[in-house]
Amino acid sequence: MEQSGTFIVLEGPDGSGKTTQIGKIEAYLRERGVDYISTREPGGVQVAEKIRSVILDVDNDMSGLTECLLYAAARREHLIRKVIPALEAGKVVICDRYIMSSLSYQGYGRELGGAVLDINKRAINVNGKEYWPDRNLYLDVTPEVGLQRIHAKHAQREINRLDLEEEDFHRRVREGYLNLTREYAGQFVTIDASQSEEHVFADIKEVIENLLFGGAEQDFS
Ligand SMILES: Nc1ncnc2c1ncn2[C@@H]1O[C@H](COP(=O)(O)OP(=O)(O)OP(=O)(O)O)[C@@H](O)[C@H]1O
Ligand SMILES: [Mg+2]
Repeated sequence: MEQSGTFIVLEGPDGSGKTTQIGKIEAYLRERGVDYISTREPGGVQVAEKIRSVILDVDNDMSGLTECLLYAAARREHLIRKVIPALEAGKVVICDRYIMSSLSYQGYGRELGGAVLDINKRAINVNGKEYWPDRNLYLDVTPEVGLQRIHAKHAQREINRLDLEEEDFHRRVREGYLNLTREYAGQFVTIDASQSEEHVFADIKEVIENLLFGGAEQDFS
């Protein structure tokens, strides 16, 4: 069956606000009566959630390539079992991280380079078709701001294995993302995620409106 839904991915460094913004996007899509699913990587389906716990466990030391292969395996399961069925049913899919996370974290952060693209092209190829997002919304923040948010006392989220990487790793990840926004310019929209949650969401809403409805929301008030 042909794909007819819209595949939207939130990308960005740790603490850039992806999960926070997805909550706001969900509320907006519900309000607009859009048929959507919201999901996350790595995870979203049982096998991938199990792989996620292996990858993120602070006690698990592993080679960069092993990490890359695990992410790619989780990505494929999640794609086949959750994303593609939803797209084929015509839904909007909102996903917290996808292939660009591997290209930035493993390609640049772990310095594995082109191997990451090769592996991931296989992982997202299903029945001869590569499933790239319709749009990556890249939430750009410096590592200082992102990590400070995550380590803040009130933060809900647990610290994982990748958060504990050295400063240079996080700097390479962000540089990687910035390079990717140029290399894959047509797939990306860059959003200044150092703004307040409300301002970030206003920028995101404008992009989603254009993507789904082809223009600004009409205001009848
Ligand atoms: N625009 C913002 N300004 C200030 N703080 C924010 C902003 N957006 C999110 N936060 C806070 O920063 C922390 C990290 O946000 P969030 O979990 O949404 O980031 P994330 O991109 O999903 O991170 P990760 O990649 O680690 O999952 C949370 O405590 C959240 O409340
Ligand atoms: Mg998150």
